[in-house]
Amino acid sequence: MIKKDTIQTIIETARVEEVVGDFVSLKRRGVNYIGLCPFHNEKTPSFTVSPSKGIYKCFGCGKAGNSVNFVMEHEHYSYPEALKYLADKYGIEVEEEQRSEEQQKQIDERESMFALNSFISKYFQQSLFESDEGQSVGLSYLKERSFLESTIKKFQLGYAFNQWEAYSEYALKNGYPKEVLVSTGLSIDKGDRLIDRFKGRVIFPIHNLTGKIIGFGGRILSSEKNTAKYLNSPESDIYNKSKSLYGIFFARNEIVKKDSCFLVEGYTDVISMHQAGIENVVASSGTSLTVDQIKLIKRYTPNITILYDGDTAGIKASFRGIDLILAQGMNVKIVLFPDGEDPDSYARSHTSTEMERFLSDEAADFITFKTRLLLQETKGDPVAKAALINEIVESISQIPDPIIRTVYIKECGAVMDLPEQTLMNALNRLIRERYKKQRNDYVAEEIPVQEEERFEHVKPKELDPYDTEEHESQLTRFMLLYGNEVIQVNEKILDEADQVQDVEREISVMEYIVENLDEDDIEFAVPVLQKILSHVKGFAAQHIAIDLSEFINHTDREVAEATANLLATPYELSENWQKNQIYVKLESDDLQQSIMAVLLSLRSKIIGKEMKKILDQMKATNDLSESEVLQNRYTFLKKVSADIDRELNRPFNY
Ligand code: CTP
Ligand code: MN
Repeated sequence: MIKKDTIQTIIETARVEEVVGDFVSLKRRGVNYIGLCPFHNEKTPSFTVSPSKGIYKCFGCGKAGNSVNFVMEHEHYSYPEALKYLADKYGIEVEEEQRSEEQQKQIDERESMFALNSFISKYFQQSLFESDEGQSVGLSYLKERSFLESTIKKFQLGYAFNQWEAYSEYALKNGYPKEVLVSTGLSIDKGDRLIDRFKGRVIFPIHNLTGKIIGFGGRILSSEKNTAKYLNSPESDIYNKSKSLYGIFFARNEIVKKDSCFLVEGYTDVISMHQAGIENVVASSGTSLTVDQIKLIKRYTPNITILYDGDTAGIKASFRGIDLILAQGMNVKIVLFPDGEDPDSYARSHTSTEMERFLSDEAADFITFKTRLLLQETKGDPVAKAALINEIVESISQIPDPIIRTVYIKECGAVMDLPEQTLMNALNRLIRERYKKQRNDYVAEEIPVQEEERFEHVKPKELDPYDTEEHESQLTRFMLLYGNEVIQVNEKILDEADQVQDVEREISVMEYIVENLDEDDIEFAVPVLQKILSHVKGFAAQHIAIDLSEFINHTDREVAEATANLLATPYELSENWQKNQIYVKLESDDLQQSIMAVLLSLRSKIIGKEMKKILDQMKATNDLSESEVLQNRYTFLKKVSADIDRELNRPFNY
């Protein structure tokens, strides 16, 4: 258990824009920041961060919360893991409450895996630079490949001795548990002893977004035919191959700055390009690209350029994978290297300027590239050409934006010397078929197809005319946002002579709302809003000001997220409006009016619901006296309801 004080310090220190900024490229918009939401696919930013409120909120997918929530959601951390991450980021010492013996044993497994990887990585680096074997075998190899010492240090390259139990033994001696050596994949359990997975290899540590080492790649130095050139850490709790990209930690800032990302195949391509001054580059490490990897890049830029060495079979094999990138709404370009060259060798044999010029000159749009390449192969054969149309249209159909699809249809029609309409027909047929299939799958199995997001927005909200969620949300938002503000309320009272008198009274917004709700015994139907309401009532009962941070940083995640959601209104004034002094009527300008309207409308809903219930009861009963009671009650409610409607429709004096 982390101590309360420590949690408080962490929450006060961790600035939401800094925490989010480590994962999302944020741009300033007035008092807030905006960026592309990391939690769903989007092309235009709807993800906002409010430094003053300490919260983030996406208006696309609805995810919202504070710094801690963000880290939990984004990194799939538990609450304590997220706190520790933030403490680590800000150099806050985590004080833990005395653990029980049981808890003491359950030290955070992931943390210890990271710790071990970092420890062993240092050992690898030390071995490379400070041992005879490391220098003569490992370092000389890397230098022969023209890696500078500064580059080697930056990427924390290392060397694993050509022995069976060099680092396994060293780690055990230093108190690292056997289980962790095995779970990280560094060591292999042989029953009575642990042996090193990596031996006689130069080592490339693989970092996650935040720079922690999640795994290693090791390259052999000899050219033994029967040993794999590269050996990689196996998948583990911290290393998920299909979700990681080699070099992302070193590249992410530059990807944002350049608003584009180069994708290469190997460790050495990434490193050589960095050395040539091109730092917005990551590697898929030899595997075919996955959607998760694409999404990782998409957090920073929609523009991706894939660098191929000149082997046509390999390129064609990758076309399917590129369709996945298109389907994510990304712009894909291709650079083809001359025969026998890869980015690594090219960077070594050319100057940085030459390399940069080559990349910008050669970059060709993917679909055009694919069309040209495949067209060459058809050599005028009409059957092959017909098959090609389907191939190309398949790629184009992946692009979510219909306007961009049309542009490609035009362009490919020209390249293939075909009427646009032919391609357009093929495209429409494909999209229709896919849609039909998706719908059938959906109906047949009632499970959403791949992209749940697509359905999220069209799923109709259940239409309940008496639903009060919107009203409850509004009132809660008023209480949280303006709870401590004092308003003047007009009230009518009867004086001694039974005359109606208008009186004015000063009351805080929170107390005003609570009073009004209590008067009619109204509770909120939405559980989380009712939780917040109870908490607010606590403040109201003691006549103390609401402390908003108690809600934003509530340990009940649901409350924290709902609060963030409510606070992030999309109605923030834009800078322009303020600059030009365009007058915009704000709810805060006439709080009483705004609150009253919501309260009345909420009452009207509740009464409407009760009237409906009474009508149903009247239909169901044959008992005359019961009928009469119901009838009376109904007439009464109808009158109240009419009063409310009149009040609601009274022109507001704006
Ligand atoms: N790879 C792998 N296992 C192998 C071969 C390759 O994991 N047996 C991965 C590595 O991540 C490697 C990438 O695929 O970096 C690309 O392979 P390749 O082009 O063969 O290696 P290079 O990066 O060019 O390595 P080098 O220049 O050292 O030969
Ligand atoms: Mn190579």
